Amino acid sequence: MDKPQIGIIMGSKSDLPIMQQAADILTKFEIPFELTVVSAHRTPERMFTYAKEARANGLRVIIAGAGGAAHLPGMIASLTSLPVIGVPIKSSNSIDGWDSVLSILQMPGGVPVATVALDGAKNAGILAAQILGSFNPEIAAKLDAYKTSLTADVMDSVRDMEKGE
Ligand code: RP5
Repeated sequence: MDKPQIGIIMGSKSDLPIMQQAADILTKFEIPFELTVVSAHRTPERMFTYAKEARANGLRVIIAGAGGAAHLPGMIASLTSLPVIGVPIKSSNSIDGWDSVLSILQMPGGVPVATVALDGAKNAGILAAQILGSFNPEIAAKLDAYKTSLTADVMDSVRDMEKGE
């Protein structure tokens, strides 16, 4: 397997059912990634090292998911100039999901985190692929084909509904 270009990290293994969706879409696009747990609160030194070494390790984009007091994406973004995509997760310690969303979304000026929808790990994977695709024609072609397939799926459902199916 080629060296991972995308790092998918999450605050807890309990986030995996959501974050797996990012991994699945990157697998579909044949983009090498790594998947692991890095907790801002429980393993702060691991978080620091992960962010500081990410670029030298070959990563080009980091997808970070967390729930509740979701500090992981923002803290990773504070430690690296790689693009960071944040996935707010409606986890066991999240009141209603808004805590996760706002913790990741409301970053101070100078430290952006590209925040996707609540539990939106699939879109995080697609966005990460699009960042690589902006300078990699092979990945761009896969993304174009994927977008075409989305249109075809909708048009199939239009035809099914017209036929009463
Ligand atoms: C966050 O707390 C994690 O990202 C997770 O979403 C949530 C709950 O973690 P566990 O108590 O399940 O380990 O830091």
